[in-house]
Amino acid sequence: MSQEKPLVAVLRGEAKVIPPIWLMRQAGRYLPEYRELRGKATSFLDFCYTPELAAEATLQPIRRFDFDAAILFSDILVVPDAMGQKISFEEGGGPKLEALAEPGDFTRLHDFDVERLAPVFETVARVEAALPRRTALIGFCGAPWTVASYMIAGHGGGEQAKGRLFAYRYPEALEQLLDRLVEASAVYLQRQIEAGADAVQLFESWAGVFPPSEFNRWVAAPLEKLVSIVKTKHPSVPVIVFPRGAGTHLPDLVSRLGADAFGLDTTLDPAWALRDIGDKTVFQGNLDPLAVIAGGTALDKEIERILRAFRGHPHIFNLGHGVAPETPVEHVERLVARVRSGMA
Ligand code: CP3
Repeated sequence: MSQEKPLVAVLRGEAKVIPPIWLMRQAGRYLPEYRELRGKATSFLDFCYTPELAAEATLQPIRRFDFDAAILFSDILVVPDAMGQKISFEEGGGPKLEALAEPGDFTRLHDFDVERLAPVFETVARVEAALPRRTALIGFCGAPWTVASYMIAGHGGGEQAKGRLFAYRYPEALEQLLDRLVEASAVYLQRQIEAGADAVQLFESWAGVFPPSEFNRWVAAPLEKLVSIVKTKHPSVPVIVFPRGAGTHLPDLVSRLGADAFGLDTTLDPAWALRDIGDKTVFQGNLDPLAVIAGGTALDKEIERILRAFRGHPHIFNLGHGVAPETPVEHVERLVARVRSGMA
């Protein structure tokens, strides 16, 4: 038991006096060394598909902050890329995909070509070999609905209105696309696990955009299928689900998915989660990324509130969404030091 990586021990339900910590988007533009490395590849996808560069980007935040977990450096949109959808990332402007506006546009997709993602698996293997023994490696993919919403709109934002409209107009077509994404994502995660990932996280960044009548069909059901395939193939590998914005659906989602841990977004009260979902449930989160930009006493106060709320329960310290590019590096240093000081 003592040999187990702290993050994995907590994912198995152990409560630690000092919670393990990592941050969503811990590799990225707020780090000067990332910006320098990023300049070595022409496009963001080339960067993700060059194992030397992607492995280095994964390791940079570990060297600087000694986080308890590294998260594979890649993107959720490599899955549509491996299905033949044209994708580019514009400087600071987010992803641009050739939109699948009508069901007829699906003919532009081909079967998921997992071998296109071979460089990602090589990145996993390189990182696994380079990490300190106590540091866990987290693999990931986007959840089916979140990925589908980018594929349909061609971009993010606007509460994923294009994808939601598509769901009302063409429900059968959306169901088909989600099924394809479930299958592809399961294979993709399985290969990351086989290459050395200790745990996997599913990013459902747009869980919070549907009326209650639609939530099950488009968010919960595909997630449930995906978790169940991964768990059947790799029962001992922990699965973390981050359903941003799931709100009042969360208790139901937790009891239904059979995942090992749940990421809480910034809006949720830890006390509510522990009371209404379960005080043995493993939670990850949920510091406001903006408090990290602000720093100072605003940051300290929020860190303390979260540590106190989860004390005695299995908890992984993280943000409620990703690190913002304008975050001062010293504020992240302060955050890690405060969490590890065990002061709260
Ligand atoms: O450090 C890490 O967390 C690992 C790497 C990672 C990236 N994207 C790298 C990235 C992870 C886990 C993701 C997940 C991801 N990608 C999500 C889910 C989480 C979330 O933020 O809600 C989503 C929705 C995407 C799609 C995506 N990729 C968007 C919307 C953007 C643009 C926004 C931005 O921050 O620029 C990207 C690009 C992207 N993915 C960057 C990074 C470091 C920035 C691009 C660059 O460096 O040129």
